[in-house]
Amino acid sequence: MALPRIAWLPAVLGLLTGLDTPRSHPPATRRAHATRPATQVPEARLIDSLLARMTLEEKLGQLNLVAGVSDTAATADLALVRQGRVGGFLSVFGAGATRTAQRVAVEQSRLGIPLLLGYDVIHGFRTIFPIPLAEASTWDPAAAAATARTAAREAAAAGVNWTFAPMVDIARDPRWGRIAEGSGEDPYLGSLFAAARVQGFQAELGSGTVLATVKHFAAYGAAEGGRDYNTVDLSERTLREIYLPPFRTAVRAGVGSVMTSFNEIGGIPSTANGWLLTNLLRGEWGFRGLVVSDWTAVAELEQHGVAGSRAAAGALALEAGVDMDMQSRSYLETLPALVRAGRLREAMVDEAVRRVLGAKARLGLFADPYRGASPDAERAILLAPATRQLARDVAVEAIVLLKNDRDLLPLTGKLRTVAVLGPLAESKEDPLGPWHGAGRAQDVVTVLRGIQERMGPGTSVRYAAGCDIAGTSTAGFAAAVALARAADVAVLVLGEAAEMSGEAASRSTLDLPGVQEQLLEAVGATGTPVVLGLMNGRPLALPWAAEHAPAILETWFLGVETGHGVADVLFGDVSPSGKLPVTVPRSVGQVPIYYNHKNSGRPPGSEKWTSKYLDLPATPLYPFGWGLSYTRFRYSNLRLSAARLGPADTLRVQVTVTNTGARAATEIVQLYLRQDVGSVTPAVRRLAGFRRLALAPGEGRSVELVLAPEQLGVYGRDMTFAVEPGTYHVFVGPNSVEGLEGRFEISATPPGD
Ligand code: GLC
Repeated sequence: MALPRIAWLPAVLGLLTGLDTPRSHPPATRRAHATRPATQVPEARLIDSLLARMTLEEKLGQLNLVAGVSDTAATADLALVRQGRVGGFLSVFGAGATRTAQRVAVEQSRLGIPLLLGYDVIHGFRTIFPIPLAEASTWDPAAAAATARTAAREAAAAGVNWTFAPMVDIARDPRWGRIAEGSGEDPYLGSLFAAARVQGFQAELGSGTVLATVKHFAAYGAAEGGRDYNTVDLSERTLREIYLPPFRTAVRAGVGSVMTSFNEIGGIPSTANGWLLTNLLRGEWGFRGLVVSDWTAVAELEQHGVAGSRAAAGALALEAGVDMDMQSRSYLETLPALVRAGRLREAMVDEAVRRVLGAKARLGLFADPYRGASPDAERAILLAPATRQLARDVAVEAIVLLKNDRDLLPLTGKLRTVAVLGPLAESKEDPLGPWHGAGRAQDVVTVLRGIQERMGPGTSVRYAAGCDIAGTSTAGFAAAVALARAADVAVLVLGEAAEMSGEAASRSTLDLPGVQEQLLEAVGATGTPVVLGLMNGRPLALPWAAEHAPAILETWFLGVETGHGVADVLFGDVSPSGKLPVTVPRSVGQVPIYYNHKNSGRPPGSEKWTSKYLDLPATPLYPFGWGLSYTRFRYSNLRLSAARLGPADTLRVQVTVTNTGARAATEIVQLYLRQDVGSVTPAVRRLAGFRRLALAPGEGRSVELVLAPEQLGVYGRDMTFAVEPGTYHVFVGPNSVEGLEGRFEISATPPGD
């Protein structure tokens, strides 16, 4: 079940070497076409000639992004297209609808400028893959590149040429529902997935690709209280160290567009933030692509209280660097008057139009507006068998084994009766996750079906929901308990409904909704061994389950192949290899809680006067990087290439990992770094490398992880990024709290000088 390895991926991931050097020019390794200024695109003369012929209304039309109505363009909006007053649609998809809209633009408008056709292809178009948080649990960026590549092919066949993905928001607060859409809490892991998905979606932007959008710029996941859209206020150091790296990497990987976030940062909404969009994104990072607002975020500058009218909002956003106004029509309807009144320079409008036309040129739309989309192409590619197999392979890799007392798992073939229980075991809708594009519930293999197909003849699989996901009724407990009592093992699938995470879906608790925990207690009381399968879009704080359920699988939302993926792991066809990309708290009261925290002057300890809670340990329920296997791995023989290095040197770290068990399995070897003394407070640990290592039973292998200077650097007191002299520690192990420890020195000047 090996996932396809993408040849170009290592080069892309090499982009990370310059990950944290914002003030230096990006290295030459950055993909050429990503940075080609608009004046160098082959269609530059075409763009210049179009610009020269456009009326002001047509120019502002190019900056106008309009939503479709149930996947087609509304008649009134097609009339606007004929007038040259729409630059693109979002959520118009399907070869028929997209060809219609494109034909109107190309054949029935004065200048025949083709449309951008955007859609939220977040983790699949029709074939829905595991949600991004689940995909991040694979710690396999090549898997993310492969699913993005496949999703782009399906979407392009349906006429989509732009996706609003990857979402790369770092999330340290699981109350925030959109934690489901990102890659978790770590900037290094998140950056690798950002680069992989950008390359998967875009490749060389030929046929079967879509322009990617890295979103939501920026720090959207830092919303106070974990409440979506809420205020964000953090230091530039935290912004640059934690929230910006995945965006920076996406820009280096050549992402075609950036979407601004709804939130403010320290008093300035991202959609009106010239420092963010022009000074940093375009100036410091050299981004040459298109900036699009989030849905009506331009008009919402009035709600933020920084604009007194829609016209003022439009002017603010355009001057800050927002090229396209999604769905608020503020640009279209209010800016012509401002330009004519001399309150907004037309040159500013021209710059934005040039970038929109540049994006269309990069997609080749002027040469071929339809890019091969057709109903036949769509029918041929959607849900192809190989695509389903990829979905299954990634689902298997995404599953995290949180607990497995007395090796209850994997389930062996000697089972006669399995009780499959819980409100999510037979759900077809929820496994698609909160943001599932053109995915359909009918395509989903449920957990129940996956187990039924896997159990052999002469066995029986009995099902009872036991309760609803969020209801209060316990009337169904008796039937579930009866089945559990009569079974050899009970597989209990509990968690959240898909709509309990995603956008505008923040929760104030991290408990199992409804009476699900009571169901777990009732089933557990039967004495039948219970395997708890969690299906959820965020970490859930389940201390009772962690103590009483003998085995716990975190499956997140795994997409169309949920049932097959879960069965492959449950019955041991594959040993689970997933690792947590987010910290799992003991209680919502601990939030925010994350592994790369600072030590404080009074770290948690047994003495009274230390940073702790009176009623709860300060440690998480399950730490970042946690995940068990059906075998055991031994770490030995940690070697560092040097005990002392200069600030520009690279450190090679080697370790031997041995599979000491009887099953083949994959370990994700993790390398963490700690600076002992810095000019600013250092994180107690920082993920600085990892490697997937497949080992046969008894096999031992040495693996090498490389620490480049850019990964060692920090933002000093004056915010200059530099590698600081002093003592550093490395930790190499299976998660963020265990591992072998090594130590090295960095001297101010190269050793031997
Ligand atoms: C939504 C989301 C954004 C999405 C956009 C278009 O509000 O915030 O992620 O891409 O609108 O659907």
